[in-house]
Amino acid sequence: MAKVELDLASIPEGKNVVIKWRGKPVFIRHRTQGEIAEARSEDWKSMRDPESDESRTKKPEWLVMLGVCTHLGCVPIGEAGDYGGWFCPCHGSHYDISGRIRKGPAPLNLEVPVHDFNDAEGKLVI
Ligand code: FES
Repeated sequence: MAKVELDLASIPEGKNVVIKWRGKPVFIRHRTQGEIAEARSEDWKSMRDPESDESRTKKPEWLVMLGVCTHLGCVPIGEAGDYGGWFCPCHGSHYDISGRIRKGPAPLNLEVPVHDFNDAEGKLVI
């Protein structure tokens, strides 16, 4: 399958970028130190779909996820919702700054696709 490469230097800290991959939106966020600390301090074991932030990110500052709500597939909005992450306006699902479902009807966290970093070229490869 076709791979997508993205130049990470083009995404400033604290910003989201949306790209298309295999016909689906992919969300990439360059997280701030504060966001990383918040994502990692939450009690993930008590969440609906328990996943640690460490298990969802290869590098703490880069969050990479499919932009497809796990309820019925709408595209959530970034920098929105009650948990500082994403909000799906279709039926009101709130995702946190790790893309984990925190409130609303969605059953699962936003999916993290297989991805890698090309450090020599400063690129994300999906
Ligand atoms: Fe996102 Fe229903 S599709 S809340």
